[in-house]
Amino acid sequence: MATPKIAIIFYSTYGTNHQIAAEAKRAAEEAGAEVRLLRVPETAPKDVVEGQDAWKAQAEKSSDIPEVTHADMEWANGYFLSAPTRYGVVASQMRAFIDTLGPLWMEGKLANKTFTGTTSAQNVHGGQETTLQSLYVTAMHWGAIIVAPGYTDPALFESGGNPYGYSAQAGQFDDKGKAAVAHQAKRLVEFTAKIAG
Ligand SMILES: Cc1cc2nc3c(=O)[nH]c(=O)nc-3n(C[C@H](O)[C@H](O)[C@H](O)COP(=O)(O)O)c2cc1C
Repeated sequence: MATPKIAIIFYSTYGTNHQIAAEAKRAAEEAGAEVRLLRVPETAPKDVVEGQDAWKAQAEKSSDIPEVTHADMEWANGYFLSAPTRYGVVASQMRAFIDTLGPLWMEGKLANKTFTGTTSAQNVHGGQETTLQSLYVTAMHWGAIIVAPGYTDPALFESGGNPYGYSAQAGQFDDKGKAAVAHQAKRLVEFTAKIAG
């Protein structure tokens, strides 16, 4: 069986989704995948980013992580996306990248790949589920295969119980969250291996 190739693509203003993506990378590699950890480009103006200490610090912390390219999207046979909830949908930085993918979509190069998502929000019920559903609507347009965690592991019940994908409260990515992300990443690898194999 071929080694599954997983692109873990994140956007993070303050670090939570970066932490989630890092744990997904660790777990996906442990599960036998070849993994690329990638960030989407920042779209906010430089003076806005640098106007907030926490935003500036996160930008510096993630600056050595490669920005995702169309070549990465072609390379991967599974996608793990993580980005914050903004007004109940995914952060515009992630959407801006997704919106560049029209040419790949038209050629069918995003089809038949696995797809899973995670997010964070400030509040317990701040829109996490709609954010993940909005990502999955995009996955359906691609013809991707959605690999939601459902309730397939006890870690799901212990980390907030979101069957669409793990969701953290901002800044509170703890060990229970790590276990849920690890399960979700391993499940993605497992199904990617079945589909891409
Ligand atoms: C413009 C904006 C909109 C936001 N909208 C929501 C929201 O709808 N619900 C919520 O609970 N938190 C909301 N938040 C908080 C973010 O979800 C939070 O900052 C994010 O999850 C932190 O992730 P990060 O550390 O990876 O940047 C919003 C934040 C910003 C800046």
